[in-house]
Amino acid sequence: MAQKLIIDTDPGVDDAFAIALAALSSDVDLLGVTTVHGNVPLSATTINARRILALCKRADVPVAAGAPRPLVHRSPHEAGEVHGSDGLSGRSAALPEPSRPLDERDAVTLLAELLEASDTPVTIAPIGPLTNIAALLAAHPAAAAKIDRIVIMGGALGHGNTTAAAEFNIWSDPEAAQRVLTGGDAPCVLVPMDLTYRCAVDAAWLDELDASGPIGAALHALTPDYRTHYRGALGWDGMVVHDAVAVAEAIRPGTLRTERVPVQVECSFGPGRGATLADRRLPALRAATDGAAPASEVDVAVDTDLAALRALLLDRLR
Ligand code: BDR
Ligand code: CA
Repeated sequence: MAQKLIIDTDPGVDDAFAIALAALSSDVDLLGVTTVHGNVPLSATTINARRILALCKRADVPVAAGAPRPLVHRSPHEAGEVHGSDGLSGRSAALPEPSRPLDERDAVTLLAELLEASDTPVTIAPIGPLTNIAALLAAHPAAAAKIDRIVIMGGALGHGNTTAAAEFNIWSDPEAAQRVLTGGDAPCVLVPMDLTYRCAVDAAWLDELDASGPIGAALHALTPDYRTHYRGALGWDGMVVHDAVAVAEAIRPGTLRTERVPVQVECSFGPGRGATLADRRLPALRAATDGAAPASEVDVAVDTDLAALRALLLDRLR
């Protein structure tokens, strides 16, 4: 049976790859796409998501716009310096215009209605700030019972990318992330940047995508600004397809190897704001120092077959 999936996203070049990965996979039932503030303002993430679906000829997939800002505190900045001013290296307008209008419902309503209407569990893949998902869980606990897994791109076990401590998606709305990761509403998988960096694709992979056909070439055309950023961040010519790594796990469970540990989000206003504190101590040591109080646990992705993952992405995006 096809994997039922909803993507919550802030496109973003790697979001574009992740949406296309799901939209082009015949073993995925993509029920909807919801958008959130993040890499660029909500109006831009929303039109970008709709244009990517139009590129993939998926006018059957509804898109609803969600939160224009974090739940509690405004983020000091977006990530136009990484993804380009329009979120897609300045190439958004070159994509096909969507024939399907924007859904009249807001993102949380669309998420809740899609979940409630489903007779089998649904995976949600949030690949932007977690604002919409926290609001969904808070407002619609019955719908949350229909969630199979929430597979999140976010967090860092080592250093961050937006600050020394924090990865962008979690840093953009730490209070929302804390709600989703510790609320115990649905099983969570966290795909942190430590692993997504190791899955980076190189120039040869990108050349192959470009030569693979019209959709591959159109996706490749979105990468110049993003690739320039990652040439600096990686120190070699390639780019990190963070969100596509998480969506690969969402559509093929078990693609990533995970460790089940408690995770907390730092919500203070010090230099650690937005850090994900994954408690990887041995359970016996944790219990000895913290007492017996059970903490809700998260499956944190720590490893994968890197070559197989890159081959899967290329195969599906052609
Ligand atoms: C995450 O932040 C965004 O810039 C990317 O789209 C990805 O979701 C990586 O830290
Ligand atoms: Ca993203």
